[in-house]
This record gives sequence, structure tokens and C-alpha cells, in this order.
Amino acid sequence: MQTKNILGIDVGGSGIKGAVVNIEKGALVTERMKIATPKPSTPEAVAEVFAELIGQQGYEGQLIGCGFPSIMKEGVCYSASNIDKSWKGVDVAALFSKVSGRQVFVSNDADVAGLSEMRYGVGKGLKGSVLLITIGTGLGTALFTDGHLVQNTEFGHIPFKGKAAAEKYISNSVRKKENLDWDEFGRRFNEYLEVINRILSPNLIIIGGGISSRYHLFEEHINVEAEVKTAEMFNHAGIIGAALFAKLEAGKAGALR
Ligand code: BGC
Repeated sequence: MQTKNILGIDVGGSGIKGAVVNIEKGALVTERMKIATPKPSTPEAVAEVFAELIGQQGYEGQLIGCGFPSIMKEGVCYSASNIDKSWKGVDVAALFSKVSGRQVFVSNDADVAGLSEMRYGVGKGLKGSVLLITIGTGLGTALFTDGHLVQNTEFGHIPFKGKAAAEKYISNSVRKKENLDWDEFGRRFNEYLEVINRILSPNLIIIGGGISSRYHLFEEHINVEAEVKTAEMFNHAGIIGAALFAKLEAGKAGALR
């Protein structure tokens, strides 16, 4: 049987969001719900919210996709910048599958958001290199070359402006913490994009994450050689991409046709 509606869950540093996605259209079919990320964001606490969200969505399907804000390999978490340190080494896919009683596939949040924009959004059919940057609590990146994803790129963690990671200089959490106005935010983001442009020369940079719908507020400061566009699905790209990722992985595993 064809599974076209899949629950996508986007675990972020500040909120855990989910909705059921029609993966043929790349569109939400239920209302997006958001629950604040528990503090501390331990595996037990986040797993509880994960299960709560499934209940709230009334989802009865067997397959769930999830974007997670860490380096992810085969469902296992390898870093913990904006989530409790105890996540490192945890098999996130196994944990979420256990608490939900479903088959859950988990990958990096920016990578899945990128998959969604490349399949349904502004990156559709594009050759060459395309970089999606999600601006949220952290700074996530997803690099595509001729439509293929290079996983776990983590360009938000390049040392930058005296900080150990660029996301400590420019992200939405830094904007709030340092009370940056949009001009300062835009200037900082452009400085970052200049470096990214120099090292990758992407044909297109896609801005995603919570801030993408407010791009017009700082757009005037963005001036790099690469073309820059906002994610067509804005902040939904993470949820849609998570569902798409589950479909692709389940297909590979032969669990689904
Ligand atoms: C993490 C990335 C993640 C990004 C956005 C960064 O701190 O290292 O894995 O994609 O935040 O959530």
C-alpha cells in the first residue's frame, strides 16, 4: 500500500514541531503543532514530548520522520550543541521508535529541510552546488551537489570572528540574547555568507529556519556573489523534509513501496 501521509517532527533547541505531511505534494495536511523543548532537554524528557506530539496529531500511521539538531549517522546522535549533552551517543531513532511504537527515521534537521527544498521548493531540479542555511537556535547547513546531499556539513560550526563557532556570532538565539536590531543582524549574516561564498562558491544559498519569513527585514544587507533565496516552505521545510526522509529511508529498507 502507498503511504503518502507521513508524520514529520522537527526537534529544535527551543521547540518541537510536527505535522502530517502529504509527501506527494510536499504539503502539510494537519495543523502544525509546537511544544516547547523541555529544559533540560534530556533524552527522556524529549522522548516524552515526541510521544505527546504524536498523540496531539492523532497520527495512526506506522512511519515517522524526524529532524534532529545534531550530527546524525544511521539514527545515532554524534554532537550536542543546542540540546542536552547526554544525547551524544544515543540511538535517537531507536529511542523514538520505542516510545512511539512506530518506525522512526532520524537525520540532521538542516539536512532534511534541504531535502524538502530540493524536492519541492526553490532548489527543485537545480544542478551545481546549493547550500541551505537554517537560522534558528543554532545555524544548520545542508550542502547539495547536483541534487545529492553531502550529509552533516556543520558550516555553522566554523570558527568565526573570534568565536569557536559561527552560530555563536550569528543565529536567532544570538539575535535575541544580544538584542541585535535587524540591521546589525543582517550585517553579521552577510559577513558569514561572504566566508561561506568564498569557500563553497554555491550557485544558490537558501535561507531556512524560523527567521526565513522575516528575511525582508535584513535582506538589504545581504550582498554576496551567490544567489540568495528564502526557503519556499519557510519554517515548514524541516517538518516536510523529515517526513520525506522517512519515506526515502523506509523505501531503501524495503519496508515500503
Ligand atoms: C548543530 C547542527 C544543527 C543546527 C541547527 C547546530 O548547532 O550542530 O547539527 O543542524 O544547529 O539546528
